[in-house]
Amino acid sequence: MRTFSDILDNNYFDKDSIVRLLGAQGRDKELLFLKAAEVKQKHIGNTVHLRGLIELTNNCTKNCYYCGIGASNNKLERFMVELTEVTKAIHFINDNSYGSVVIQTGEIQNEQFTSAIEDILYSITKIGKGKLGVTLSCGEQSLVTYKRWKAAGAHRYLLRIESSDKDLYYKLHPKNKKHHFETRLESLRSLQECGYQTGTGVMIGLPFQTLENLANDLIFMRDFNIDMCGMGPYIEHLDTKLYKYKKLVPSKETRVDLSLKMIAILRIMMKDINIAATTAMQTLVDGGREMALKAGANILMPNTTPGIYREQYSLYDNKPGLNEEAEDNKISIEKLIARAHCKPGYGEQGNSKHYSKRID
Ligand code: 5AD
Repeated sequence: MRTFSDILDNNYFDKDSIVRLLGAQGRDKELLFLKAAEVKQKHIGNTVHLRGLIELTNNCTKNCYYCGIGASNNKLERFMVELTEVTKAIHFINDNSYGSVVIQTGEIQNEQFTSAIEDILYSITKIGKGKLGVTLSCGEQSLVTYKRWKAAGAHRYLLRIESSDKDLYYKLHPKNKKHHFETRLESLRSLQECGYQTGTGVMIGLPFQTLENLANDLIFMRDFNIDMCGMGPYIEHLDTKLYKYKKLVPSKETRVDLSLKMIAILRIMMKDINIAATTAMQTLVDGGREMALKAGANILMPNTTPGIYREQYSLYDNKPGLNEEAEDNKISIEKLIARAHCKPGYGEQGNSKHYSKRID
């Protein structure tokens, strides 16, 4: 039988190897994280790139079973951040040299929304004098819409596959036209075709999810040749359909452990992609984001959404930083980065190196 080090030193991880890595404990686990740290240092260094996150609207036409802002949740007040406030947030991001903006929304497909995003993209270009990187995370859209947003200034797009296993996908989403697995794949392909730096990701520790599923998720990312990844633990939300399966959700510790291993393994598999240290990590454990940075992540997305809207953007329970705009201020972000022995990439867009090589 192959030893753990044999597996770790092999250049290509197959599914069985990944399952073994995900199950690593003790010394083996230490070896996995050491290798990931080594790969990170060698290929992308210790700079953490910042993206100021604006959660623009919780309006959403979908009903994903895990998500707190699904259309049928009528306990929420729906909001769209006003343009003046968006502009203020963009100025904040620019003035603090975060380098990039992320606009995240529920999923809405209509002309009014498409052009509202275009307007925001134009303001980002204007305020940042064309120097700010822009990531959109606005769900499945038509190729035409993706092209319009690209032309208006967006560089990157995040669209999580949530799970690459079709059966599991349909345990997380209604089985209807609006929530089609194939449409998600098609959208990801359209994004690549449009020339976006394309990102995807999954939730970790979902009910019904196996280690094999997670291994296949990582293989999916490699096969898809993604440029960026945002993945983190699944967190229950009381007002969602998936909540009733909460007994099937692994413990917090297991979800954190698995999420860190997923990051570390992906870093070894895809050495030069951008990987985010997500807020969900922070929700499950204090210091979750710095743990993610140590495991191989290199992107932080400090929340710059105006405070008054934050409570209405609860994708999951106990999301941190709901009441205070200061949670993700420059000083706390700097401390977090320093604790992870990294440095902030102020004023840099921090584009995916993988993308630059891919299009060369
Ligand atoms: N737990 C963790 N992540 C969640 N997301 C949505 N709901 C949850 C949840 N309950 C993630 C999804 C989505 C991203 C915007 O937030 O992966 O793509």
